[in-house]
Amino acid sequence: MKIRVLGAAAGGGLPQWNCHCRNCSDARRGAAGVLPRTQSSIAVSSDGRRWVLFNASPDLRSQTESLTRSVSRSGTDPGSAGTGVPPATPRASVFDAVFLTDAEIDHTAGLLLLREGGWLVLYATAFVHGALRQNGLLRTLAAYLQIDWREVPLDGAALELRDRAGDRLGLEVTAFAVAGDPPLYHQGNGTSPAGHTIGVRVTGANEAAGLVYVPGTGDVDDALLSSVGAGDMLLLDGTFWADDELAGMGISQRRALDMGHLPIGGPNGSLTRLRDISASRRAYIHLNNTNPVLREGSPERRAVEAAGWEVAYDGMELDV
Ligand code: MLT
Ligand code: MN
Ligand code: ZN
Repeated sequence: MKIRVLGAAAGGGLPQWNCHCRNCSDARRGAAGVLPRTQSSIAVSSDGRRWVLFNASPDLRSQTESLTRSVSRSGTDPGSAGTGVPPATPRASVFDAVFLTDAEIDHTAGLLLLREGGWLVLYATAFVHGALRQNGLLRTLAAYLQIDWREVPLDGAALELRDRAGDRLGLEVTAFAVAGDPPLYHQGNGTSPAGHTIGVRVTGANEAAGLVYVPGTGDVDDALLSSVGAGDMLLLDGTFWADDELAGMGISQRRALDMGHLPIGGPNGSLTRLRDISASRRAYIHLNNTNPVLREGSPERRAVEAAGWEVAYDGMELDV
């Protein structure tokens, strides 16, 4: 199984269009040690040829170009330059399916950029599907293409991902609900509906080790802990270092936990809580532009590295 991080930043990206915090300013001027990052998305493939997009960010266009270039270089796509074989049709998506872990804008706005595709295989929970219908996104998109929604169950059953024709893509996904909250725009009745945010464990067919991908979570609970097996790779919510990170910078009074994101640092942060996790490789992803771990050499970056964590970046590749 191949995993490619398409965008490692949280909503807004790094730099964010209207932000002049230290990280954004440094990333904008190309300073060493603060790599720019696009918004949250990864691609997963069982064979390096057929890819599933996990979360569709507003930066999808440039992310898709970079994935398509890398697939072409490896000579595994039908239209790749090196093979001399003309593509069967001039238009073919590098993605066979899209899988959503929540209905947040940074994970779904990119769906609108897929409208030229003619069809869309969309894996999402019933909540996420309903929220995207309610906010108009799927109703808008349905005027341009055929949407084949496939419900992601939360009963612990493994789901075999399949392409448009129903053929297996060689990936199995087990989804689990995580703590957090529905998107701000969602008009619910105040209760927290099941399946608004999920984590997933993805494996190749009949493979023991896999990827646990949890780009947003407000807690480290048993469902999350027990999803990570020995030898698995973990990509975890690294939105904020501190609960009061935004307030401390005069950006917002909202705390990380109010926004459904468990901070990395502090006595109850994910770094401490996941000290004993058995993952073979672990990285923080969905990093907000304010997060000090984005600065190479910062004390916070050194702390996560000393604990065996990496900080994800665009183009990062993981092989399971
Ligand atoms: C989140 O991850 O909590 C959301 O994407 C925040 C946002 O960008 O509105
Ligand atoms: Mn987000
Ligand atoms: Zn910033």
